[in-house]
Amino acid sequence: MTNKVLVTSALPYANGPIHLGHLVEYIQTDIWVRFLKMMGRDAIYICADDAHGTAIEIKANAEGITPEKLIARFRKEHYEDFLKFSINFDFYGTTHCEENRKWSETLYRAQQRGGHIVSKKIEQTYCSTCKRFLPDRYVKGSCPNCGAEDQYGDSCEICNSTYNPTDLNNAKCSICGSTPARKSSTHEFVRLSDFSDILKEWLANPEHISEGVRRFITQWLKEGLKDWDIMRDSPYFGFPVPGHKDKYFYVWLDAPIGYISNSERWCAQHNRDIKNDYWCNPDTEIYHFIGKDIIYFHTLFWPAMLYAEGLNMPTAVYVHGFLTVEGKKMSKSRGTFITAKTYLEYLDPQYLRYYYASKLADNIDDIDLSLKDFENRVNSELVNKIANLASRAVSFVSKRFAGKLSTVDDTGLALIKKAREAKSEIADLYRSRNYAAAIERICRLADSANLYFQENAPWALIKENPESAKRVCTAGVNISRILAIYLQPVLPDYAEKIRSMLNEKDDQYAWSDVDKLLENRDISPFTRLVEKIEEKKLKQMIEASKEIEEKKEEGPKVPGIEDIIDIKKFIQVDIRAARIAEAELVPDSKKLLKLKIDLGNLGQRTVFAGIKASFPEPGKLVGKTVAVIANLEPRKMKFGTSEGMILAAGKDDAHLSLLELDPSVPPGQRVT
Ligand code: 2FM
Ligand code: ZN
Repeated sequence: MTNKVLVTSALPYANGPIHLGHLVEYIQTDIWVRFLKMMGRDAIYICADDAHGTAIEIKANAEGITPEKLIARFRKEHYEDFLKFSINFDFYGTTHCEENRKWSETLYRAQQRGGHIVSKKIEQTYCSTCKRFLPDRYVKGSCPNCGAEDQYGDSCEICNSTYNPTDLNNAKCSICGSTPARKSSTHEFVRLSDFSDILKEWLANPEHISEGVRRFITQWLKEGLKDWDIMRDSPYFGFPVPGHKDKYFYVWLDAPIGYISNSERWCAQHNRDIKNDYWCNPDTEIYHFIGKDIIYFHTLFWPAMLYAEGLNMPTAVYVHGFLTVEGKKMSKSRGTFITAKTYLEYLDPQYLRYYYASKLADNIDDIDLSLKDFENRVNSELVNKIANLASRAVSFVSKRFAGKLSTVDDTGLALIKKAREAKSEIADLYRSRNYAAAIERICRLADSANLYFQENAPWALIKENPESAKRVCTAGVNISRILAIYLQPVLPDYAEKIRSMLNEKDDQYAWSDVDKLLENRDISPFTRLVEKIEEKKLKQMIEASKEIEEKKEEGPKVPGIEDIIDIKKFIQVDIRAARIAEAELVPDSKKLLKLKIDLGNLGQRTVFAGIKASFPEPGKLVGKTVAVIANLEPRKMKFGTSEGMILAAGKDDAHLSLLELDPSVPPGQRVT
């Protein structure tokens, strides 16, 4: 009996699509778990959507749906994308589940019991129009350092300086556009410094984290561990903090707890015990794969949370770098922000698994997807070297030798032995996550096998010595099979095709299957393994990923129209449903009506609308649901401030029609 193994990847947020950057991690983890399983290890791969937080709540609001509906949609989409890339989770759940609520409360109570919780009054940015505290990402303004416009409240993307949202010039709430203020609130913090000694001890073990990761953390440890704010104010989508009103657990508290709760859900289906088998069993190994942006959470907060509750701390946290495309950060305008869905419309997922494997090592260096290199490597190695050998050998046997293998000759056997001898070396490379080196080793074996096949030329040999030719092909088939076994963690579909062509019964290859020799047996006709990448498809994929704003630069001018606004500006117009609550004439104004409109969650607003000539009896407007531009900068007028614009059109002021909406549309909902 070997130890049980639990492996996780970071949980993707349930508010955006899976893209090629995400896939680095899921492919890396999936290869590792598949390898462990081939070695006969009792391993499970657990993941889930990260379903809480402000971003999800705001997005749901903007779409006019409940957060529950939003997260259900993304979870389904994510899971389907992952499946298409052959990511083989044993369980894919969500953090918004009862098990996760229970574990979040349990781990919080452990912090309370240990006396590690401190309360502090803090000041945060607050939007009184939206009636919510604004995380830094929801405040925009000009950078106090370089003056660049449209920068977030925490840092400037142009000059890289960091600051507080209050430092921004002309700060605006990015939801409604109004100027935010400061407001105080009392939050609870985990005093992380209470765990300094235990964390230092855990971090000192080179098996837990790599040297590169340690360099990151040393700096934080030197600066001293800061108290960690685990609460957020309402409105928020998450779990309420027991014993507090209008307070929620910060999404980063319950997200990693999703590793426990979702493994518990797997245990319930597989008759295992979450504590005895996994989180309290000293023999169980727990591995987290993450990106380098979330090291702090996984190597400091998370082990401290586990420790306080007496649960196993991770056996190791494996960290990878970011994905760049053509050496640069992925970009929507360059078309290099490629979603899993767009990729799948143009290319075979096996290519990406192969390419990532050929680039990944056990370090935190970024990996670059260069499209030319991607095309060259896949075509020259996977297609022309590895698959081509299999294709020639299997086709020959099936077409010329009635699908029957014979035995292998001595040279063939020597070659097979050489391939087998690489078994433990390649296994070590997979185990240590040096996939690039494993792929290189496999390619070298394919080179020798291709040379053997070429030199013995069964297509010529068959004329004078068909038996010899058959033996050469039998060796070719056997080596192709060994290569398929070595590649199975990376290319499970490829290995599956080979296995079924060779009429092998088992579900999957085990690592030890390398030692079997297939002789004197029937095989099935050849089926295509993997096609070449066509350059045109790559180009089409990039085009399809380009966001519209870039295209406008060369876009046509519109004859007769002076000022063209691009689509990006247009979609910034936030059109909402509003119910007219009050409507009255404005004394001394020929054109204006004063309206009180109800925008649901966004509150009530006053709007001065130039529609009097068309609606001389304002009372008749009360109760109507209309469309309103909700993010227009408030405008001071002689009679007061107008906080929005009602949409109406007509040939002149006396013939305006309102854009009236069905009364079932709730006020505040976005209507574009
Ligand atoms: O950074 C992220 O995308 C987070 N959703 C990762 C969470 S990992 C774990 F802690 F849940
Ligand atoms: Zn606001």
